[in-house]
Amino acid sequence: MRYTTLLKTDLKPSVICLGSADMGSKIDLASSFQMLDAFVEQGGNFLDTAAVYANWLPGERNISEKTLGKWLKERGTREQMIVATKGAHPELSTMHISRMAPADIQHDIDTSLKNLQTEIIDLYWLHRDDPKRSVQEIIDTLNSQVQAGKIRHFGASNWQTGRLKAANDYAEAHGIQGFVANQPLWNIGVIDFAAIGDPTLAMMDKTMWQYHKKTGLAAIPYSSQANGLFNKLAQGRSDTIKPNTLRIYPNPQNQQRFQRIQQLMQETGFSATQIVLGYLISQPFATIPIVGCQNMGQLQDSLTAGDVQLSPEQLKLLESH
Ligand SMILES: NC(=O)c1ccc[n+]([C@@H]2O[C@H](COP(=O)([O-])OP(=O)(O)OC[C@H]3O[C@@H](n4cnc5c(N)ncnc54)[C@H](OP(=O)(O)O)[C@@H]3O)[C@@H](O)[C@H]2O)c1
Repeated sequence: MRYTTLLKTDLKPSVICLGSADMGSKIDLASSFQMLDAFVEQGGNFLDTAAVYANWLPGERNISEKTLGKWLKERGTREQMIVATKGAHPELSTMHISRMAPADIQHDIDTSLKNLQTEIIDLYWLHRDDPKRSVQEIIDTLNSQVQAGKIRHFGASNWQTGRLKAANDYAEAHGIQGFVANQPLWNIGVIDFAAIGDPTLAMMDKTMWQYHKKTGLAAIPYSSQANGLFNKLAQGRSDTIKPNTLRIYPNPQNQQRFQRIQQLMQETGFSATQIVLGYLISQPFATIPIVGCQNMGQLQDSLTAGDVQLSPEQLKLLESH
């Protein structure tokens, strides 16, 4: 497993981050612990969760965070892990009502600290943006939480580039912390963004990519494996690809991507998973894919990408039409 650095921090995360959206719910507690143990045994040290995870299930509140909290406590692993969580997400029943007032952010951080059974969160993500709220107020609020010792650093998830830049320009001009990472939707696939049906999400595009390249800001993308699309095509298990995945990743363009992946598989001997994740890990700025594995088999497969390095020419080939 390789490690990287996040600019303006002392964090040294593994190049693969373990997502936990389904831990403690769809993935039961024992299996979640088993996967977390295996991740650490193989060099992983970076966990992604969010207060909102599994709140879509009746009766559940913050079950992913609570599961990680239990595991960190029981295994005594808190010190060796980089723990990232997200908050300030609208209530799922009222997605149109923003929850990014200073009081919302403070409330969510306090709740996450309790759920995670920790004194401090290493990387705190804003899960969404509210473009009507000034970046000054947001950055000041987050800095006050850093000063209070509740979070070490913070990042933005689902923010557009203009807002990211405005926030970090403001932080720089005032000599205070800005966002140290960005968490967009990003993978090797061609995404039909409109088909997702959630305009509050944000994905990597050319403008965002250029901003990362210029500033060195770390990208920590979700849905990094295109929900298993290419892995499953390569494994001859296309029947297990979910209809929603097929809707978001339209056919001709992604068939073409898959052909490029297969070409590179032959040239390098890498598996499809190694190429899908290697594409992200090998970007010219720190990029740490978050993987959403559902079982030990998928986890072991995804972790084989932890040492992959593709060349700029190979990245170009993968993107070519
Ligand atoms: N910031 C945000 O708004 C946001 C949004 C979404 C997710 N996230 C975070 O990012 C994490 C990952 O996102 P994601 O779940 O969309 O990522 P993903 O890894 O692209 O997709 C996960 C799905 O891919 C399949 N899969 C995973 N590993 C595989 C493998 N090795 N071989 C074959 N198939 C494999 C599984 O599909 P099957 O279930 O069909 O087998 C799994 O459900 C989440 O856990 C969460 O922490 C953040």
